[in-house]
Amino acid sequence: MSKDESKSKATPPTRIIGAEGVVHQVFHEAYRESKASWVTGRPQPAVMTALSRGWFDAGPLLDLGCGTGENAVAIATARRELQILAVDAVPAAVDHAQALIASAALTERVRLEVADLRSFKPTESFGTVLDAGVLHVFSDRERADYLEMVASALRPGGTAIFIEFSDAETRPRGPRRLAHDEFSAALLQAGFKLDSIETARYETTVHPGGAEAWLVRAIR
Ligand SMILES: C[S@@+](CC[C@H](N)C(=O)[O-])C[C@H]1O[C@@H](n2cnc3c(N)ncnc32)[C@H](O)[C@@H]1O
Repeated sequence: MSKDESKSKATPPTRIIGAEGVVHQVFHEAYRESKASWVTGRPQPAVMTALSRGWFDAGPLLDLGCGTGENAVAIATARRELQILAVDAVPAAVDHAQALIASAALTERVRLEVADLRSFKPTESFGTVLDAGVLHVFSDRERADYLEMVASALRPGGTAIFIEFSDAETRPRGPRRLAHDEFSAALLQAGFKLDSIETARYETTVHPGGAEAWLVRAIR
């Protein structure tokens, strides 16, 4: 095999993911191989913005696709009354989150669950739902059912907060990108009232300066 051939095998071409969403196995592999580019070791700055605005004041909070738990820990630390349920499909991520929560002495207020959000049925009612970087992984087909589930998890008047890659992000790595109108239409379709949609950044280890993103607040 020539040098060029071996190089092209080792680094497959990257492309921007579209309507098919991110293949689910990617998440298991990313954690197993320590290649999860969204694991930065700190909470997402847009989560901290939402926190400073009081967007997490109504509990309990459901943290969907919680990953390694940095967002949940930051929110629980800042809001001493808040009860949180944090859910992720990947046991390795949940194990990591569990250790982080234990080391912050938050186990009484932050519960964890391993579940696939494509079939998750909330059994309690929440004041706030956080989705930091999850909606943008789903395919077009999965998106509507997922948003319906998010709405069903909220009590009437409850708040959903989304932080997702936007179509202003043109660098090749990462999940699919959402356009403003596509995002707002999907939320309206699921029965949400759009409170605000603004530009933000989603930090990763592979997008210097953070990926262009939307920070969205929607009300059920
Ligand atoms: C981009 S990461 C974001 C993690 C975390 N919210 C953060 O901001 O650091 C997306 C997370 O969603 C999880 N995820 C993806 N698809 C899922 C599904 N169908 N059910 C549950 N979790 C899922 C992944 O395992 C991953 O931890």
